Amino acid sequence: MKKIRVEASTCYDILIKNGLLGESGRLIREISKGNTAVIVSDSNVFPIYGGILEKSLRKENFKVLSFVFEAGEESKNTNTLVALWEFLAENHITRSDILIALGGGVTGDLTGFAAATFLRGIKYINIPTTLLSMTDSSVGGKTAVDLKNGKNLAGAFYQPCLVIIDPDTLSTLPRNIFNDGMAEVIKYGMINRPGLLVKLQGEYDINEIIEISVTAKRDIVAVDERDTGVRQLLNFGHTPAHGIEMLSEFTISHGSAVAIGMVMMTKAAIKEGLCEEEALPKLTELLTSFSLPTAAVFSPEEITDIALSDKKRAGNEITLVIPEKAGSCILKKLPVTELCAFLSEGF
Ligand code: NAD
Ligand code: GLY
Repeated sequence: MKKIRVEASTCYDILIKNGLLGESGRLIREISKGNTAVIVSDSNVFPIYGGILEKSLRKENFKVLSFVFEAGEESKNTNTLVALWEFLAENHITRSDILIALGGGVTGDLTGFAAATFLRGIKYINIPTTLLSMTDSSVGGKTAVDLKNGKNLAGAFYQPCLVIIDPDTLSTLPRNIFNDGMAEVIKYGMINRPGLLVKLQGEYDINEIIEISVTAKRDIVAVDERDTGVRQLLNFGHTPAHGIEMLSEFTISHGSAVAIGMVMMTKAAIKEGLCEEEALPKLTELLTSFSLPTAAVFSPEEITDIALSDKKRAGNEITLVIPEKAGSCILKKLPVTELCAFLSEGF
């Protein structure tokens, strides 16, 4: 079993091993003396994996409750959050009990925010089941729900107390959703793990890819948990991506939007003389090999409009993640009045 330690405001382990879901009860019992474990999961994941988790928890004498919501980004909202809070209250959940997110990034973000806020904070564990959530969202403690005005606008930094990754759960993940996660993996390669870009060109070991990605994220979170500096590198491609997701009314997935956003930022950086030209074919060929889109579908004006209401804006400036080459990105502040012109160069 691989164990990766995260040293943030609270410290926790990320465990990676095939078949680990069936052992999760024992692992959770090691960190929780509580009576009740509440599984939070969605309508796709719970029917496949809920039973394995329930059985494993009952073996450790947990009383097990399950809160299952309709799968999809549309559920990551305040209605589902309130329903979850009320479910916890109706069932007299106390601070010694534990929440377990079983699913993708939507489940993890929602559960984490409920855990951060219910009774002013109870423990939670992430069991990610998509490649995106294994390599990115389950680690680092960003929790949130979407508002009508934008994605992830209401949330908290709140770390899980354990992350259990069972790569076997990827076997049931539809190919396009797996590929979405690859966009975030390629992002780590572009930011500071060029070795990942090389590995993904050939036959790769998915457990190793998860481990490298999680370690890349862990290293960044350890030095900037609250996203005031270097953690913003993880937003490579995300400034246009959030706009693209919203403009498409979420018919374009997060990973696909990040893929388009990374290409836009790379093209614009090359035109500005900030990035090596070879970075673009390296990036687009890899994205295309995972059937990810590379062409922008909305105008720079439309994307800018949404980007300016995003969290990444601070006053009259926005921090952009700019590639210098494949494997190295930097942060650069830009006056908001120049964003549209910059993004236009990414078309
Ligand atoms: P998701 O949670 O909606 O999962 C995608 C789909 O896959 C869903 O339909 C789900 O039911 C299904 N699914 C999940 N696991 C499955 C499995 N093993 N087998 C079959 N089906 C399965 O989406 P996602 O792509 O995992 O995550 C996207 C979300 O993550 C977005 O809301 C994004 O904002 C968020 N995110 C958060 C962070 C963070 O740091 N907190 C980072 C990146 C993304
Ligand atoms: N996924 C971006 C972050 O965790 O900071």
